[in-house]
Amino acid sequence: MKHQSSTLAVPETSAVPRHVAIIMDGNGRWATKRFLPRVAGHAKGVDAVRSIVEASAERGIEFLTLFAFSSENWRRPPDEVSVLMRLFMTVLEREVGKMANNGIRLRIVGDMSRFDPKLQEMATKAEEQTAGNSRLTLTVCANYGGRWDVMQAVSRMVKDKPGATDYTEEELAPYLAMAYAPEPDLFIRTGGEQRISNFLLWQLAYSELYFTETFWPDFDAKALDQAIGSYQQRERRFGRTSAQVLDQKKAS
Ligand code: IPE
Ligand code: IPE
Ligand code: MG
Repeated sequence: MKHQSSTLAVPETSAVPRHVAIIMDGNGRWATKRFLPRVAGHAKGVDAVRSIVEASAERGIEFLTLFAFSSENWRRPPDEVSVLMRLFMTVLEREVGKMANNGIRLRIVGDMSRFDPKLQEMATKAEEQTAGNSRLTLTVCANYGGRWDVMQAVSRMVKDKPGATDYTEEELAPYLAMAYAPEPDLFIRTGGEQRISNFLLWQLAYSELYFTETFWPDFDAKALDQAIGSYQQRERRFGRTSAQVLDQKKAS
């Protein structure tokens, strides 16, 4: 399916967001509050991923995108980085079979070249194993950065169309790492910070933003419903007036 950039066309909106993108933040603080090591928060965060993936599929969300590791997270203490890497591998080992049986398609997006070759291989295999599924597409962003994405897309586009001087949004869109998905309808960040932290910069142009104080390990199906409830209160105008939006609703 071809998905147009929402700044070029007004997308259809529905009560249940088609695409939800989440910055899963607050694992470390969740653990510190309990006098546990930060990595205990990451382990608990995996449980939250499992429940939110299932809750999303049950609610009819088609695309769920989770920010697992940013291109800036390499700045963390080496011990924490290596625990996170091991956690990725364990999760891939343990969960992919279940995903394959539950209709989940897994995509891993980001600059994978910096990861251990074994992890890269596991990621590729996991994508292949779930490629036939369509109930929910789960994208895990790992070593991902919004600026990296725009730059890799520009580089590949220019390589394919050398000599051109004017490029359009439409020409760039297919080169973005998540070209297979519509742009996120709803963006959620847990953990209280109100920033994008170099997540999907291009694709969030018209997403509804939702911030919650809840730490990621505590984010459950009820919390997801609250975010969807907030989304349903919003009027998505895409540059038009409120009267125009209401007219279009009446006509359809
Ligand atoms: C998010 O939780 C998980 C990753 C970035 C891997 P944090 O680890 O950032 O948790 P806080 O923000 O320090 O509480
Ligand atoms: C954003 O969280 C990245 C992920 C959740 C993977 P951070 O905790 O790294 O973000 P900052 O540093 O607070 O902006
Ligand atoms: Mg954080």
